Amino acid sequence: MRQPLIAGNWKMNGSKASIESLLEGIKQGMDSVQQAEVAVCAPFVYLQQVSESLKDTKIAYGAQNVSEQDNGAYTGEVSTTMLNDFACQYVIVGHSERRTLYGETDELVATKSAKAQADGLTPIICIGELLEEREAGNTEAVVARQLDAVINANGVASLENAVIAYEPVWAIGTGKTATPEQAQAVHAFIRGRIAEQDAAIADKVRILYGGSMKPANAEELVAQQDIDGGLIGGASLKAEDFLAICQAAK
Ligand code: 13P
Repeated sequence: MRQPLIAGNWKMNGSKASIESLLEGIKQGMDSVQQAEVAVCAPFVYLQQVSESLKDTKIAYGAQNVSEQDNGAYTGEVSTTMLNDFACQYVIVGHSERRTLYGETDELVATKSAKAQADGLTPIICIGELLEEREAGNTEAVVARQLDAVINANGVASLENAVIAYEPVWAIGTGKTATPEQAQAVHAFIRGRIAEQDAAIADKVRILYGGSMKPANAEELVAQQDIDGGLIGGASLKAEDFLAICQAAK
């Protein structure tokens, strides 16, 4: 059985004050979350605050990006060692916003994923197609290419300590969610592709859905056989909505 994971991706949102009240709200509601593992991925500068607030709770946390380098002259970058200094458990790699706005390639995402794992962090590896790729019938080809880049570089065994997030780019922040059937079809494809190389790992790896997941659609999405939780953007910024999604993940 795969334990569902609901992870908030706050993106570039929040302030000390708003994060304090968001985390207080989530902590207060955690008793109502029965089955899901809960995590939040914060902007780097708030990791200290998040780590203090979540000490002695069951809520995991992490970052939204990480450097593939160890340390040195890489202005503006943040290393795995730094994330470990704040006891992060997770780090998102290859989010579509990093790929499309900041030019991250499949190869770089694979390298970041390996670096995270080498230093004890669990990568949440994001893959997903653009609207024009879906409309051209290339959804499977695109997610296969993105997934294969990680498997070819790091080995299928690397997925044992990773989470995959399928985020169709056209559903991110648009209010347009993939239907449960659309999402399930791609999740099953992803799991099947991993199973071609290692059935046990395919069975174990958690594949999250991301893209306008909210309280109204979470239960139906997570009820699908191959959807093991969600990576939540906008709805993770409101404690009430985020908790409702966490409760829906059974
Ligand atoms: P939204 O939930 O705001 O669509 O964002 C999804 C996402 O990109 C999570 O990483």
